Amino acid sequence: MNDGEGGPPAGAARAKTGVIVALDAPNADEAEELVFKLGGEAEWVKIGLELFCAEGPQVVRRFAAGGGPQPGATADAARVTPERAGTARVMPERAGTARVMPERAGTARVMLDLKLHDIPNTVARAIQRASHLGAELVTVHAAGGKAMLEAAAEAAKACPPPRPRVLAVTLLTSMTEDDLSDIGCPGRPAEVALQRARLAEAAGCDGVVTSPHEASAIREQAREGFIIVTPGVRPAGTAAQDQRRVSTPRGAKDAGADFIVVGRPITRAEDPRAALRAIAAELED
Ligand code: C5P
Repeated sequence: MNDGEGGPPAGAARAKTGVIVALDAPNADEAEELVFKLGGEAEWVKIGLELFCAEGPQVVRRFAAGGGPQPGATADAARVTPERAGTARVMPERAGTARVMPERAGTARVMLDLKLHDIPNTVARAIQRASHLGAELVTVHAAGGKAMLEAAAEAAKACPPPRPRVLAVTLLTSMTEDDLSDIGCPGRPAEVALQRARLAEAAGCDGVVTSPHEASAIREQAREGFIIVTPGVRPAGTAAQDQRRVSTPRGAKDAGADFIVVGRPITRAEDPRAALRAIAAELED
């Protein structure tokens, strides 16, 4: 990872758009199975709410390349401190599994996608805690406002290197104009996303997570090195599912994405590795 202030992670130059595989799995075993099926070809994975709620912070350490198991993450360490021993009693199998499976699971660079949205102090402190887990990218929700975004960016910059990069989610890619109106935020999704991207950049965030539909407008006015990550990506011929503002991998790249996040088109494919390869090939063309 490039540790220079404000720069994108190594390999994030726009000439090469990376793929982040969304590990949206119900537990670590299924996530490991998926990483295993990808045969070590996933450079980046995204750990989101489902897996994090199922397994807790140790799942980030378990997959993060270079993050590695931290003291207290294993059953052995669990026996050392009373608090952790309590946790170990509740989840003995998990603790045991964690010790034997990391090689099989493989490692990857991790985007921790919790879309933090709380008062500034709480978000800043959560970013500090997340920085110890080995995640290189962490997300906050731009709807949290300027002070929250500034607090998140400052907290990340105060972390010891390699500090995490803070990405602000402009607007969920599942949101439509009607959805915005329902929550009292009338406007066109593209305009709202652009406005929030400007806010995130001014607040010192490292980049945004946004629909491919808004990526080019954001790219045009953002500073050099501002990271753009686009979910809502669907290879031609695959179902949009609950995503509304979707694009093909190539469309997202052409719009200026540094990374695309792809979940179900890879994770639910009969052959996830072949699906990942096909997407990577489309990005190379
Ligand atoms: O399966 P699919 O490709 O739709 O997964 C997209 C992933 O990106 C999910 O994990 C979802 O939470 C995430 N995401 C999104 N839209 C955003 C931010 C994150 O779909 N704006």
